[in-house]
Amino acid sequence: MDRLEYNDMVLEHFKNPRNAGTLEGADAIGQVGNPVCGDMMEISINVKDDRIEDIRFRTFGCASAIATTSMLTEVVKGMRLEEAEKVTWDDVMKSLGGLPKIKVHCSLLAVDGLKAALYYYYKKVGVDRPDLKPKDEDEDHHHDVEVNIQDSPLV
Ligand code: FES
Repeated sequence: MDRLEYNDMVLEHFKNPRNAGTLEGADAIGQVGNPVCGDMMEISINVKDDRIEDIRFRTFGCASAIATTSMLTEVVKGMRLEEAEKVTWDDVMKSLGGLPKIKVHCSLLAVDGLKAALYYYYKKVGVDRPDLKPKDEDEDHHHDVEVNIQDSPLV
């Protein structure tokens, strides 16, 4: 099998992920799965004054998923919600200096996880944002603070 060529920044975020874990008493949690590979992502956020005050992530994902989510958390931490929801997988991938072509889909997991967390935050404060709704929304699982994802051995 060919060795994937990850750049140094991707490898650095993979080995030392920023903002890994969960937030105690998070304002909202998003969980999504990647339909391409079946990997899972969970993103927790705390919001203050319409900004992402704090953010954490856990994943059952590959090196690219970990690196892109680590970078995403750095990009959106402190950002206004309306700006954070516009961040795309392409923005995150560019911030990392690119990904091997066959791993590009992994960056979607990070962005979809953030959108899901924002969706549940808005829902909690009474704002309907169907455009941010996760595709496989399950009311019983996604906005409950008690989540079922176990700790990844990597994060
Ligand atoms: S292979 Fe599943 S997220 Fe990368």
